[in-house]
Amino acid sequence: MTSGQQAAETPLSGGSPTAEQQASSTMRAIVQEAYGSADVLHMAQIPKPKIAENEVLVRVHAAGLGRGTWHVTRGLPYALRLAYGLRAPKNPVPGLDLAGTVVAIGAAVTRFAAGDQVFGVGKGSFAEYATARESQLARKPANISFEQASVVPVSACTALQALRAASQITPGQKVLVLGASGGVGSYAVQLAKAAGAEVTGVCSTGKVDLVSSLGADHVIDYTKQDFADGIEHYDLILDIAGNPTLSRLRRALTATGTAVITGGEEGGSWTGSMDRQLRALALSPFISQRLTMVFATQGSADLEHLAGLIEAGTLVPAVGRSYPLEQVSNAMRYFDAGKARGKIAITI
Ligand SMILES: NC(=O)c1ccc[n+]([C@@H]2O[C@H](COP(=O)([O-])OP(=O)(O)OC[C@H]3O[C@@H](n4cnc5c(N)ncnc54)[C@H](OP(=O)(O)O)[C@@H]3O)[C@@H](O)[C@H]2O)c1
Repeated sequence: MTSGQQAAETPLSGGSPTAEQQASSTMRAIVQEAYGSADVLHMAQIPKPKIAENEVLVRVHAAGLGRGTWHVTRGLPYALRLAYGLRAPKNPVPGLDLAGTVVAIGAAVTRFAAGDQVFGVGKGSFAEYATARESQLARKPANISFEQASVVPVSACTALQALRAASQITPGQKVLVLGASGGVGSYAVQLAKAAGAEVTGVCSTGKVDLVSSLGADHVIDYTKQDFADGIEHYDLILDIAGNPTLSRLRRALTATGTAVITGGEEGGSWTGSMDRQLRALALSPFISQRLTMVFATQGSADLEHLAGLIEAGTLVPAVGRSYPLEQVSNAMRYFDAGKARGKIAITI
C-alpha cells in the first residue's frame, strides 16, 4: 500500500454505491450526538475516518474505557467542552485508547507501515477504524493481547509522568497511592514498586485483593482506616482519587515529602479537580513539603518506554473486565457504578 492510501475506497464512478462498496467505505462505531450518560451511546454505521498527513488509520481490535472517555462522554467538567465541542462532541465517536493493526499511513508518516501492530491514543477508538497521530503510537508489546495493550496508553502514561513529577524515587522510600485500584493507580503501584519503593495502596474493601496482587506492600481500605491518621508518613503521595483536602495530604507526608495531585472527581462542574491542584501549586513555595500536579500527555517515547517495561514483565495491564463493542453503554454503566477493577477493555 502506498503512502497516504486509504484501505477503504469510496466509489469512483457515478451512481449509487454497491452493497460491497458501501461496506468497505463505512464501519460500525459507537456514536453520541449529545453529551450525557451511557444512554447517549449507540451503535451506528458511519463513514470510515480519513487520515491526515501525520496520521495512520488503525483497524481497532480493542479500545480502553477509562475516566478520560467518561469525561468526554459526559462533557464534564464544562471547561473540557472548549476543546471537545461546546454543545455536543465535535467527534461523535468516543474512545481514546486503542490497540490494533495499521491499515493505511499518511504521506508524512515514517515510523509505521500497513500491517504493524500498534497501541496508543486515537480519535474515536470505539469503532472498527480510528485515526491516530504517528506521534501518539508505539508498537504493541508482543507478549500481551490487544485487549491488554488497549488499556495502557492514557492511564499508564499518567502514572509514569506522575512519578516523574515527583523526581527520583530512591529504593526504600515510602510511597502512598490513593486510588490504587483504578486505571492510573493500578500502573502507579507497579511502577513505584519497580523503582524500589515501599508501596501502600488505598482503595475500597472489595478491591484490596486486586491492589495486593499488583504488588503493593500494604493496602489501606479507606472505609476502615484513614491514611491521614498521623501514624504513617510518606515520602511521596500519588493523589489519584479520593479528593483529600490539602491539609490531610500534608498530614500524611514527611516534613519534606512530595504530593503529586493527578486527579479527583468531586470538584465543581466547571473546572473539576483543577481548583485543588491550583491551590496546591500556590501553597507549595511557602511550605517545607512539595505539592505539585501533573497534566499527562501520551507521546510515543513514553509509550515505547512502557512497552519495554511490559515486555520485561515489570508492568502488567490489569484488565478487570472486557465488553464487546455493542455493549459499550453497559461497560460505561459498570464503570459509572464504581465497579471497575483496574481497567475495562472494549473488544471490536
Ligand atoms: N492529570 C491527568 O493528566 C490525568 C490523566 C488521567 C486521569 N486523570 C484523573 O485521575 C483520576 C483517576 O483516574 P483513573 O482513570 O485512575 O480513574 P478510575 O479508573 O475511576 O480509578 C479511580 C479509583 O479510585 C478509587 N477510589 C475512589 N474513591 C477513593 C478514595 N476515597 N480513596 C482511594 N481510592 C478511591 C476507585 O475505586 P474504589 O473506591 O472502589 O477502590 C477507583 O478504582 C480521575 O479523576 C481522572 O480524571 C488525570
